[in-house]
Amino acid sequence: MPKSQTESRKKDHVELVIAKGAQYAKTTGLERVDFFHNALPEISLDSIDLSVKFLGKTVRSPILITGMTGGYDDAEQINRSLAASAQKYGLAFGVGSQRAMIEKPELARTYIVRDVAPDVPIIANIGAFQLKKYTSSQIESLVSAIDADALAIHLNALQEVIQPEGDTDFSGVLDAIARTCGKLSVPVIAKETGAGINQDVAIKLKGAGVKYLDVAGAGGTSWSKVEYLRSNSIPGFEDWGIPTADSIIQCRGVLPIIASGGIRSGIDGAKCIALGAEMCGAAYPFIRALREHTLDEYIDTFQKQMRICSFLAGAKSHADLKKAKLIFR
Ligand SMILES: Cc1cc2nc3c(=O)[nH]c(=O)nc-3n(C[C@H](O)[C@H](O)[C@H](O)COP(=O)(O)O)c2cc1C
Repeated sequence: MPKSQTESRKKDHVELVIAKGAQYAKTTGLERVDFFHNALPEISLDSIDLSVKFLGKTVRSPILITGMTGGYDDAEQINRSLAASAQKYGLAFGVGSQRAMIEKPELARTYIVRDVAPDVPIIANIGAFQLKKYTSSQIESLVSAIDADALAIHLNALQEVIQPEGDTDFSGVLDAIARTCGKLSVPVIAKETGAGINQDVAIKLKGAGVKYLDVAGAGGTSWSKVEYLRSNSIPGFEDWGIPTADSIIQCRGVLPIIASGGIRSGIDGAKCIALGAEMCGAAYPFIRALREHTLDEYIDTFQKQMRICSFLAGAKSHADLKKAKLIFR
């Protein structure tokens, strides 16, 4: 059967991001935040436990591999490898947009990972715009087909306006999100894809019934850069977006937060928890490490860095780390 436009675009995205990086020039803002070093931690590094309940399951570390791929042949192995490492290290895992699977149900196999990740939270994924076109039972089937614990609805207005074939009528999207939240059997996470979420939007999403926000702020993968590199379309928006640190500060207190966008180390991740997030997440560094055959080492170092930050902040647990004092420069 011929490849659909959605299938070949998903493959282009992965290959382009790995080959070119396509990262923001602008930073996450986390370099302006430091832990107050605790010269007398009075705890043992070995006793630090950063496990936390997320979507009804316990993760060993508050880390999410955020949704990237699915819907074409090679994506099956990418998702299975990422999910297997998530299971090994006790992290949460998200699949990429399942739009290709609605268009061609036989592509479901490229997203199914529950057999290799039986114990970790798995997150289904669809674009907010797509909700306008599909029925609630089609959306529910995305969740049930992969035995997901939540659905991430991605907000990617920036990417869509830069993409030549993009969907640019975002009117009615909030209503469609509210309809989905009202009908779905699992909680909904609203996620950006790298341009961040502000407080007004966070409040509207909460009103629509969303249970978590993945802020996916600026400072990491730039989707306008990806689309510009892919299609040479509209330049000038490669650095558009709310830096991740600012987006966390905007949204904290509205809904529980997953902090992502440019999180590249466990030190970045620990700062996000102390800034008010429940979980931290990343996409690019995990797929890059997978391609370089260093995924497990990368995750191991990331987890160790988070634990060392906790130790040096005198925080024994996830709850303590959330309360750790920060210096803002
Ligand atoms: C190759 C690649 C493909 C992506 N595809 C999706 C997707 O299908 N759905 C989605 O919600 N986000 C997608 N994203 C966005 C990420 O989940 C994340 O929000 C964004 O890349 C920022 O995180 P990062 O700076 O750690 O890469 C993708 C990211 C990458 C790198």
